[in-house]
Amino acid sequence: MTIIEQAVDVLQKATKVVFFTGAGISAESGIPTYREKLSGIWAGYDPRDLETAKAFRENPPLIWGWYLWRRLRVAQAEPNAAHLAIPHMANLLRHVSVITQNIDDLHERAGSLNVVHLHGSLVMPKCFACHRPAVVPPDQSTLPVEGALVEPPRCKRCNGKMRPAVIWYGEDLPTQAWKAAVQLVKDCDLLISVGTSGIVMPAAGLPDLALESGASVIHVNKTDVAMGENREFMLIGAAAEILPMLLERIEAGKTRGT
Ligand code: APR
Repeated sequence: MTIIEQAVDVLQKATKVVFFTGAGISAESGIPTYREKLSGIWAGYDPRDLETAKAFRENPPLIWGWYLWRRLRVAQAEPNAAHLAIPHMANLLRHVSVITQNIDDLHERAGSLNVVHLHGSLVMPKCFACHRPAVVPPDQSTLPVEGALVEPPRCKRCNGKMRPAVIWYGEDLPTQAWKAAVQLVKDCDLLISVGTSGIVMPAAGLPDLALESGASVIHVNKTDVAMGENREFMLIGAAAEILPMLLERIEAGKTRGT
């Protein structure tokens, strides 16, 4: 059996499947991943240096502008064939859940339900001082597509500066989301990791946890990110090609009654 046939076989037999996704799944929707070179006013910046409370304290307009630019990219983006394949698979397989590190809403817009967001969301900002969520999202309609440095709006309650409600380096993951993710991974018999470099902990430990709990892991990535364990299947290629191909094979299997 080829590696694809083996992966399809595992997928067809699985009773509980978890998709664990990262920036690579949204790359073909035009949203830059975190380890690629940026352009325009962001050229020369490393996203890792922008995703910290320290960076926000030192230069709020830079960090607010960076996330507004990301929000604009997401608002202009559409779910791609990889996002769309997941809810289709959920209709064909027994139990499918989605855990994402992404701060975009492309899984939801593709039709996936109950998506667990480990790194927060771009959609609604919160206050840097009192941590309460914004009452209304900020207006970004006048932002230039290339991005700009923008003074963050003020909290309507305490006048603190607003920040994105995403998880920065050094911050804890949202407790409920993390607990839910760990439970889903411990209970699954197959985890499909899509478009993640697997380097930012603790989320990056979920494929390992799946293997330790006796599940299989399929990786879908443009580069080889497998850890070399048994029960791991590495499918190298673009998520927007590989996930629809897996879906097609499952559909064909259903038609044949396998
Ligand atoms: N299809 C599949 N994989 C892809 C594609 C694609 N079209 N394009 C890129 N990739 C892969 C890359 O090879 C890489 O392994 O997606 C991965 C993207 O890695 P990262 O940019 O590190 O994204 P992610 O793993 O989600 O990062 C984790 O790091 O900076 C933080 O909070 C941020 O949530 C993010 C976290």
